[in-house]
Amino acid sequence: MIVGICGSPRKQATHYVLERTLETLEDEGFETEFFTVRGKNISPCRHCDYCLRNRECVLKDDMYPLYDLLRGAQGIIIATPVYNGGVSAQVKAIMDRCRALGAEDYDSLRGKLGMGIAVGGDRCGGQEPALMQIHTFYILNGVIPVSGGSFGANLGACLWSRDTIEGVKEDSYGFKTLDKTLKMFKRFLNSQTP
Ligand SMILES: Cc1cc2nc3c(=O)[nH]c(=O)nc-3n(C[C@H](O)[C@H](O)[C@H](O)COP(=O)(O)O)c2cc1C
Repeated sequence: MIVGICGSPRKQATHYVLERTLETLEDEGFETEFFTVRGKNISPCRHCDYCLRNRECVLKDDMYPLYDLLRGAQGIIIATPVYNGGVSAQVKAIMDRCRALGAEDYDSLRGKLGMGIAVGGDRCGGQEPALMQIHTFYILNGVIPVSGGSFGANLGACLWSRDTIEGVKEDSYGFKTLDKTLKMFKRFLNSQTP
């Protein structure tokens, strides 16, 4: 199963791009799960270290269903809107809250495949720094980060929304970076399947 995490509080460009990505994977026979932060209550990590002592997070909120999805996933796709040249606060909260997964089992995410999608209102609005934040999270947690290859989608999918869903639909170059990254992601997924 591939879990797609939409890090936008709106049902707009990031939601659209991730939904389209998961539909492509479904069409090719992969099972997917869509998780959005929209309307959810996911608090930031408090660094109380409860998880280190009890192997679970003290904050019993909407992160719990996502923990289940992450445990069961072969692949993870984090799709974030670009906020101040990086990931959204909602995506950062999810990353930090994964400390509890590591406390439960140090290898809980190890060996899974990870892909990133960044959607910015500007063409060069910080999509690549946002993708680097996602890849850093993957590396720290033993997730294998997938690049789109060195010709056009080096760090993953970079989309330009002009702040609207209609805008992102017009970003044909951005969708090329998505296609390339997805191609590499599927190649890795298929190479892992016995
Ligand atoms: C708090 C905030 C900060 C933002 N910072 C950036 C930015 O640094 N670079 C950029 O390209 N767009 C920035 N934007 C615009 C969003 O990335 C853009 O509207 C994107 O499409 C939002 O995703 P959504 O449509 O899925 O909600 C920002 C938007 C907000 C609300």
